Amino acid sequence: MMSDLGFVHRYLPGEDGSGATLLVLHGTGGKEEDLIPLAQDLAPGAAILSPRGKVSEYGAPRFFRRLAEGVFDHEDLLFRTHELAEFVEAAAVQYGFDLSKVVAVGYSNGANVAASTILLHPGLLRAAVLFRAMVPFEPEVTPDLSGLPVLMAAGRMDRMIPPDNTQRLADILAEAGADVDLRWRDVGHPLTYEEVGEAREWLTVTLPKLSGVQENG
Ligand code: MLT
Repeated sequence: MMSDLGFVHRYLPGEDGSGATLLVLHGTGGKEEDLIPLAQDLAPGAAILSPRGKVSEYGAPRFFRRLAEGVFDHEDLLFRTHELAEFVEAAAVQYGFDLSKVVAVGYSNGANVAASTILLHPGLLRAAVLFRAMVPFEPEVTPDLSGLPVLMAAGRMDRMIPPDNTQRLADILAEAGADVDLRWRDVGHPLTYEEVGEAREWLTVTLPKLSGVQENG
């Protein structure tokens, strides 16, 4: 467990030479270890950067404060999102991974902070897998997300994440130019084996397409 760079986190170097780093973001009550097996299953050999959310809700780690279920503390969300973006940039320097190939994998609260990062720091994340995400905030200015690949996996029976809210997030991202693939299933909040398999397939196609900054000129 490392606690420098401002976040308690785990970093596992990549082994497959793809240069991709998965930024792994847990749900409410999770911690930095929890989704590492999932990430290794989704993209074997990719580097993994997994921070622990710094907000504590009665002891449950989160990535930003909420006032009630589904009602977010906007000011804290903005602050925490910038803080997370700075952490990713500092971690790239410290560990030497390619900042132009960072792909978010977030679940629930982690997916929401990933969505917030996409909206507030366009270009930082090169792709994202959002499991059970909702709108973090309505952006006042539409960012340019041209061609950003985003996979969203949502449950029609999710009691934590209202389906119309997930759809709204997909619309916001698509209107900004992202290449959104929103997949619905008749499931609830917990992630299912089938969705993990679909995300693995999606990443298998998406990761090799990420080109480094140098290659783009
Ligand atoms: C959130 O607070 O980000 C969402 O309601 C999902 C969650 O509880 O993690």
